[in-house]
Formats: sequence, structure tokens, C-alpha cells
Amino acid sequence: MKDLEKQFTVTAADMRRVVEDFHAEMERGLCGKSSSLKMIPTYVHRPTGDEKGTYIALDLGGTNFRVLQVELKGGGRSAVVRAEKFALRKAHIATTADALFGFIARSIKDFMSGARIGAGKRVHLGFTFSFPVKQTAVDSGILIRWTKAFRAKGAEGRDVVALLNEALGREGISDIKVSALLNDTVGTLVAEAYEDRQCDAGVILGTGTNACYYEPSREGMAINIEWGNFNKLRSTPYDRALDKASGNPGQQILEKMVSGMYLGELARLVCAELIKKKALFGGKPSAAFGRAYAFKTEQMSRIAADASKGLAGTAAVLKELGIRKAAVEDRALVKKACDIISTRAARVSATALAAVVTRMDPALSSAHTAAIDGSVFEKYPRFSAKMKDALRELFGRKADRIKMVLTKDGSGKGAAIVAAVSATYA
Ligand code: GLC
Repeated sequence: MKDLEKQFTVTAADMRRVVEDFHAEMERGLCGKSSSLKMIPTYVHRPTGDEKGTYIALDLGGTNFRVLQVELKGGGRSAVVRAEKFALRKAHIATTADALFGFIARSIKDFMSGARIGAGKRVHLGFTFSFPVKQTAVDSGILIRWTKAFRAKGAEGRDVVALLNEALGREGISDIKVSALLNDTVGTLVAEAYEDRQCDAGVILGTGTNACYYEPSREGMAINIEWGNFNKLRSTPYDRALDKASGNPGQQILEKMVSGMYLGELARLVCAELIKKKALFGGKPSAAFGRAYAFKTEQMSRIAADASKGLAGTAAVLKELGIRKAAVEDRALVKKACDIISTRAARVSATALAAVVTRMDPALSSAHTAAIDGSVFEKYPRFSAKMKDALRELFGRKADRIKMVLTKDGSGKGAAIVAAVSATYA
């Protein structure tokens, strides 16, 4: 266990080094040199807060696909009037682009039949599409490659808005204009910036992880960093095993240490090794801990939240995994493994955020708000507190100048705001 702890420890010195490397990679990415950070221009700037109107927003990139009707009221006020979730199945995300976009178009049709938006009037739509996209304008962009669990064929290298328009056409939908295409980090940033002038970074810590910020040298244009792909990090044998067995080996290295899609798998690999070493469950092989991705980050969350003396909550999760009788020591060990892995995730996230904020303001001379969304940040016990601790280690009291704000529904509201700005200039 001591050994394990050491492997996953991120010291203050490690964080400082990573911040430096992150800055260097940002600079290289911005200059078009080869870099693990893509630094993608988004054509999105700071909203005024006075954008108004009713918009449709799409949110694709996590476990669910969502359609939302958003009303912007001006004065920094907005409301999600209606939202519907459509479960994404493997048949949608892992077959063909036509199947995926067909499903999206049908969901929109479904949603619109219940939406009361001025009949016959054209409605503007903002499409939050949370993958690396080489943006060519605010309303078009080419999918560079899928990340997370998506792999629908025939989408990489294509303009995503064209794919959506074709699918809308096939469904006979003609009263929708796709006015904006944006990453979820951009939606989150813009949604918060609409009401908070100090907000200059948007972060997702969910199924995947990424961030964007307003780049000073580009007249404040938001840059989508695609930080999930950052790779100047010290890895453990568990990280390397996870990466090797993944669908995208060598890519998304930071994401594989931080995001919800992978944390459970890391914990599973660690537990499997402990079992092998006879340090856990008396060395008795466990089916669940032997099966890739059987242990979910959400289950880790529940274990982390278990403060009971006998760790009954942990036992309940282990039971779901087919382990009926776990000794209290075993429960404690699993809990400890989860803690070590999530602590590293929080510290790596905080380090990346520190690098982003100091890119904009090296001396931290003013206040910054980072708008953050995603299940890991929102739901993993003490995740944000651990991030805050790490920021304090880096910046001392000045860390208080970085405010982390949970921004729910950014990808809905933000998409509406970007669509509103784009529609004005169209
Ligand atoms: C993945 C995607 C990125 C997205 C993030 C969070 O890292 O590549 O575009 O922002 O997940 O959803």
C-alpha cells in the first residue's frame, strides 16, 4: 500500500514542473507546432450578457444526448425551459455516422413536436459537440477524431454541422438553422461568463475532461485546449496497462488519469493487483475485478462517501460486484485505493487549471472564475476540496483568486448564447 501511495503521489514539485510543461505545450500548440495540446480556435468571444431570444441546444458527448429549449432574457439571465434526455446506445455511438446523426435528428423531431416555439418561424440551434473539432467558423468544424467511447464510422474528417444538416434533411426538418458548433467546455465558459465578468475558463471534469479559456494574444478568443490529451505526466504501470488496452492507445493520457470514464478502471486494475499479491480478499480471484470496466467511477464515489465505522456502504458496493463477504480490512483497503486514485486525479486537474489561469495572468494579479461542470467535479466526494488544496500548495493565499464555480447546464445555455451571437451576425 505504501508503495502504491508513492506511485500515485503528486508532490508540489511535480505540480510546478507540470505547470511549466503545460505552458510550453500551450505555446507550441498555439504556434501550430507539434504538441499534445491542440489549442483549437473556437471563434467564440466573451458574451455581453444581453443576448436574447429562444434557442434550441443539443448536447452530445457524454452518456446521454440532450435536447434543450433555452430562453435568454438579457441582463445575464437565462432559463432552460424544457430539456429531454435520450439514452445513447452502442448502436448509436459505435456503428456509423448516419446511425448516430439519424438518431440525433429523430430526437430533435420528437422534441420539437412538443416545443412551443413560434410556429413556422426559423429557430436557431447551438450544437454542443464535445470532441476535438477543427473549427473553420463558429458554425462549422471537422471532427479530428473521436474520444471517450465514441467511434461511429464515417464521421472523422467530416464537417459535423454538414452531417447534422443532412440528417435533419432526411427527417424533413427545415425550420432549424444550425448557427453554432461548440465544445462543452466553451458552452460552460460562455454560460458562466454571461453572468460573471470574471469568468475566463471553462472546465469539464466528467466522462471526459478538457478546458478552454480566453487567450489574450488572440483578442480574447476562446481556445479549446483539449487538455485530456496532455501527456507530460508521470505514469504508473496501471496507467500504462489501461492505456494499452484502451481503444485509443497513446492518446488522452491526462484524461485517462482524471476522468469518470477511467477512474473506476484504474481502481479495478489496482485492486486486481492487490488480489494477485494476496493482499486483498485473501487472494481469492474475483470475477468483477477481473473484468475490464466492471468497476464504475460512480461506485468509487459511493465508497468515498462511506464514512460509517464498519464501512457498510463499501460492503454494499462490493456486493454489487459479486463479493458477498468482505472483511472490514478488505473494505478499508478498497476504499484507500479509491482515495489514492481520486486524489491524484484532483491534483492533476488542479495543476492543469493552474497552468491555464497563469497563462492568462502569470502573477495572479486579478480574480478569475473557472466555470466547471461534470459528474466527477460535482459528485465525487471532496474532489473540489482536494483541487483547492492543491491550488493552495501552488499559490498560497493567492489561490483564493481562483474561484471554482459549478456551472450546471453550461452546454445547454452556452450553446444558446453562442447561437444568439452567431445569429446576430448571420
Ligand atoms: C473529451 C473530448 C473533449 C471534451 C471532453 C469533455 O476530452 O475530446 O472535446 O471537451 O471530453 O467532455
